[in-house]
Amino acid sequence: MRITIGELKEMKQRGEKIPMLTAYDYSTAKLIDEAGVPLILVGDSLGMVVLGYESTIPVTMEEMLHHTKAVVRGTERALVVGDLPFMTYHTGVEDALRNAARFIQEGGAQAVKLEGGENVADKVRKLVECGIPVQGHIGLTPQSVHQLGGFKVVGKTPEAAVCLLKDAKALEEAGAFSIVLESVPAPLSRLITERVAIPTIGIGAGAYCDGQVQVISDLLGLFTDFVPKHAKQYARLAEIIKAAVADYIAEVQAGSFPTEKQSYTMDEKVLAELAQ
Ligand code: KIV
Repeated sequence: MRITIGELKEMKQRGEKIPMLTAYDYSTAKLIDEAGVPLILVGDSLGMVVLGYESTIPVTMEEMLHHTKAVVRGTERALVVGDLPFMTYHTGVEDALRNAARFIQEGGAQAVKLEGGENVADKVRKLVECGIPVQGHIGLTPQSVHQLGGFKVVGKTPEAAVCLLKDAKALEEAGAFSIVLESVPAPLSRLITERVAIPTIGIGAGAYCDGQVQVISDLLGLFTDFVPKHAKQYARLAEIIKAAVADYIAEVQAGSFPTEKQSYTMDEKVLAELAQ
């Protein structure tokens, strides 16, 4: 049985922290699920850490669905959240509904995430009314990177902090089951977390959130273009991969790979017949 949005709310009530990770493919999703992560996000960070785009803006619905299906196939227990890409929900409630439904119906996800607060509350309300669990995302919203003027901390001024509090309340009132807080000062995340009954999941938002989310490629040290300040590398897989590949190259060049162990044999008689 998969984790439910009700169980996530109960975790908040019990003060049990919620770990969330991104995943983009079958094998990684399977490992994360087996390790016990209850909440997996097929984030549109896919665009940057897997597809090599400069931002999340070029990511399409087809790309997201392709990877969501793979993640869903790899998981049994985690609740899988599909990230609605840029301009797939801003253009109206109908578009938001159609695209969110694709994540659930075609992708097999159990929920969707979208960026924004008060400005997307009407869409959140409609999706929830139609039975689609929605996770909000406020603070640094990467799909608005050009509007924000870069990847910056959001909520430092009194006006910006009040806006974020209003956004969080608007998402809760619209029926969101959780809110991602990205790059928000820790004391403000604490305030938001105390003021809403739904779990807040932080990334660069300090320790007071109800849960934390990290991009798996950052956590594993796989993505080397840059390491965000809020990321912690629990492993350095890039170095391990490069060393393994260097060993492979050296062994192929030296003729020491493959050995008999990696080779298939055939019947001696067949071989003898071929030799005649
Ligand atoms: O796309 C993503 O990975 C995200 C997380 C950073 C929350 O939105």
